[in-house]
Amino acid sequence: MDNVIFKRRSIRRFLDKPVEQEKLERILRAGMQAPSAHNNQRWELLVVTDKDKREALSKMSPWAGMVAKAPVAIVVMGDTSNEELKQWFQQDLSACTENILLQIAEENLGGCWMGFYPNMERVKMIQDYFNIPEQILPFSVIALGYSEDENKYVDRYDPNRVHYNKY
Ligand SMILES: Cc1cc2nc3c(=O)[nH]c(=O)nc-3n(C[C@H](O)[C@H](O)[C@H](O)COP(=O)(O)O)c2cc1C
Repeated sequence: MDNVIFKRRSIRRFLDKPVEQEKLERILRAGMQAPSAHNNQRWELLVVTDKDKREALSKMSPWAGMVAKAPVAIVVMGDTSNEELKQWFQQDLSACTENILLQIAEENLGGCWMGFYPNMERVKMIQDYFNIPEQILPFSVIALGYSEDENKYVDRYDPNRVHYNKY
């Protein structure tokens, strides 16, 4: 139980310390390593380190305040211009988001997933602020950085929710 799948937790408090570029790049690579329907890989990642921009982003959801204090925020977005692939966009971007969170834990950093899509008011605020085209939908925002809080295991396994061969 000591791999990052079990240890990863939402970390919402960050130290005022930059994240090394090589760590950040591995985190972004992990996101793009995710499975996607038809292997379509239609994700786009907006990395926000600028303080003013993070502050603005932190106000675009009532639950995103920590973005102002994190050294890095990643907006995970999807290109929904292909109607057929669009139907899988939430699954694809969830896989991408989770991969990013797992690599953040692997790098001994802390991170937190913030939901934006399908709240279209929040989605539109990001699109307008960053001049993002309509078909590129911001899906989630991830705050990340060094933290004094630790990724640590909590047991959530519930055998009552597992069904073998019949429900
Ligand atoms: C779709 C989704 C949206 C979330 N949105 C937020 C959010 O806006 N703000 C926040 O602080 N945490 C958010 N979280 C994190 C959850 O609160 C967290 O994963 C949950 O409480 C379990 O805790 P853990 O991540 O430490 O295991 C979100 C998680 C998911 C999967």
